[in-house]
Parts: sequence; C-alpha cells; structure tokens
Amino acid sequence: MLHLLPLSTLLLLRGILASPISQDEPLPLLIWHGLGDNYAADGLRSVGDLAEETNPGTYVYYIRLDEDPGSDRTATWFGNVTEQIARVCDDLASHPILSTAPAVNALGFSQGGQFLRGYVERCNNPPVRNLVTFGSQHNGISKYQVCDATDWLCKAYIGILKANTWGAWVQSHLVPAQYFRATNETTGEAAEEYLKHSNFLADINNEREEKNATYKENLASLDKFAMYVFEDDTTVIPKESGWFAQTNITSGDVTPLKERTIYKEDWIGLKKLDEKGGLDFKTTKGGHMQLDDEVLVDVFKTYFSPAKASWSGVVDEVQELIEL
Ligand SMILES: *[C@@H]1O[C@H](CO)[C@@H](O)[C@H](O)[C@H]1NC(C)=O
Ligand SMILES: *[C@@H]1O[C@H](CO)[C@@H](O)[C@H](O)[C@H]1NC(C)=O
Ligand SMILES: *[C@@H]1O[C@H](CO)[C@@H](O)[C@H](O)[C@H]1NC(C)=O
Ligand SMILES: *[C@@H]1O[C@H](CO)[C@@H](O)[C@H](O)[C@H]1NC(C)=O
Repeated sequence: MLHLLPLSTLLLLRGILASPISQDEPLPLLIWHGLGDNYAADGLRSVGDLAEETNPGTYVYYIRLDEDPGSDRTATWFGNVTEQIARVCDDLASHPILSTAPAVNALGFSQGGQFLRGYVERCNNPPVRNLVTFGSQHNGISKYQVCDATDWLCKAYIGILKANTWGAWVQSHLVPAQYFRATNETTGEAAEEYLKHSNFLADINNEREEKNATYKENLASLDKFAMYVFEDDTTVIPKESGWFAQTNITSGDVTPLKERTIYKEDWIGLKKLDEKGGLDFKTTKGGHMQLDDEVLVDVFKTYFSPAKASWSGVVDEVQELIEL
C-alpha cells in the first residue's frame, strides 16, 4: 500500500515519527581499544571527540574492564577473554544510557575489533547496527609481536606465550594466546591443537563441529561490517587476518574469505551479511594503528552518521503505521 501514498505524506510521516523517538540523533558509539592501550588514553579520547564533532550529539562509550586505566591496560594482556566479554556484556546491558538506546554503533581497534565482534555474536544487547574494525585479528595471528631488545618484561611474557600457547593456564590468562592460530596450517597437529584448546577464536569463528546458531544470527543482523587493514601493517602477522583471509606464511599465499569454508558454509553469518551488501573490505595507508583523521572522519560519515543509521528504522515504522 506504501506506493499509493504521495511522497509528501511519506515525508511528513517520517518527520512526525522522527522527532519523538529522536531517530535523527546519531546512535551511541562504542569504542574498544587495543593491546597495551587503556580506555582513558588521550589518543583514544581524541578519536571519540572527532566522532562527536563529525556527528554532533554522539554519545561515546569507551569500553573498559576496569575503571582504573592502569588495570584496564593490564586486562589487555592478562585475563580470560570469555570472562572479559561477559563482563562487558553486563556493563553495557545495565548502562543507564546505552541500555535505553534502540541500537549502537561500534568501532574496534586491533584486538578490540574481534572482541567487539565477540560481543555482537554472544550478547548484542544493546544491538550493534554498524561495526567497523581497524587492524583486527579476525582470523587470528600466527606470530607474536617482536619486543624491543631491552624490554625484558615483554620478552618474558612472549616467552611464556611461545613456550606454551595451548596450555590451559596460558589460554585462560594470556590474552593474545586466545586468538593465536597457526594460520599456515589447516590440517594436521597444529590445527587440531588450535581447535581443541583455543579459548576464544575457534569458538567465536564457529570452527568447531558444533556451531552456535546465535553467533551467526547476531552477526548477520548488522547493517554494515567494515574491516580496515593497514597497508603496511607488520605488527599483525598476517595482516590479511583483518579481512578473515587465510595466509600461508611460508609461501605468502592468501586465501580470501570468500574462498574459505567459514564463508561458503556460512558458519558465522558473513555470507548472509555479504549477500545483503553489508560486508566492506577496506585498506588504509600506513603501519599498524597509524590512523589519520581524514580516514576516521570518512568512517564516521559513511557508517555512523544519523542519516545512515536511522533510515531503515524509520522506513519500518512508516510501513507499520500504514499497515495498521
Ligand atoms: C550460543 O551462544 C549463546 C550466546 O552466547 C549462548 O547463550 C548459548 O548457550 C550458546 N549455545 C550453545 C549451544 O553453546
Ligand atoms: C574462561 O572462562 C570461562 C568462563 O568462566 C570458562 O568456562 C573457561 O573454561 C575459561 N577458559 C579456560 C581456558 O580456562
Ligand atoms: C608454520 O609456521 C610455524 C611458525 O612460524 C613454523 O614453525 C612451521 O614450520 C610452519 N609450517 C608450515 C607447514 O609452513
Ligand atoms: C604453504 O606453502 C608451502 C610452501 O609453498 C607449502 O609447502 C605448503 O603446503 C602450504 N601449506 C598449505 C596449508 O597450503
């Protein structure tokens, strides 16, 4: 019946519907920082400020595992990621502002990107409308970072990771081990160990025999999932992990997501999302986390602007009203 109404009536309806439920306000924005960073860091705050400047009225929430910035930073290295995500789910669901929002947008930096995806798949309350990740490790890492020559603490930490990646203690206490993946192996002992012991990644990617249907349903419910990879990223190995690609690190061969079983059999809803035009593979200049304001402003306009974020909601409501 929609087509019988003149455009002016539709526009009027849209205007009436838009104001009381503040459909033209931008959705709140969640930002989850990366390894070694903390939620109160100046650099992170300036990203939030830029989001607010670009889409005035944006309420920005910086995800944290502790109100104390030092402890929040420690939690990027130490902790059980399953418990960390559950904690974030509780915090967001009971937050006075976020819990009343119809939906939120989300921006994840580095490991914060796959953790936000974990939030979407496991909880999604409030639901995420658009998810953007920068330099994330959606298909895991196959090498741990290289420490500075004199950083003994880092060296000790990486030493434990390397020596015992699949040990129960490491998998429940050291964060990067929980998204480690021998990405140059698809079968054989390494792959088996990964499937058996990976506390986070193998689960969230639905790689085990038993698939969780909620993960798929939730991820496919996004409007947009944009994945940015840094052109010259040498920290994330392999960097194509940011696009769910599989890299043979011996030969350098890259198997793109669309040629992989996770996509073809649609284990986590990526194919469904892609078929409705919701999956964006993006490249950005520079090394790991070398963000520039121009790119960020473009992201805020493209994915988080109120016009984009509220449009479908309004159309649905107009339709409902007309059908009544
Ligand atoms: C699937 O994930 C949802 C959300 O985290 C959870 O509630 C449910 O128990 C999981 N189902 C299975 C079979 O593990
Ligand atoms: C991580 O925490 C979850 C929830 O408490 C628990 O079920 C799981 O066994 C823990 N992982 C490891 C490797 O201990
Ligand atoms: C995979 O990578 C690991 C660590 O870099 C290496 O030890 C192993 O030989 C590689 N395996 C293959 C099949 O290339
Ligand atoms: C990775 O590349 C190496 C060297 O070309 C090759 O021998 C190996 O079979 C490849 N591994 C996989 C899983 O394709």
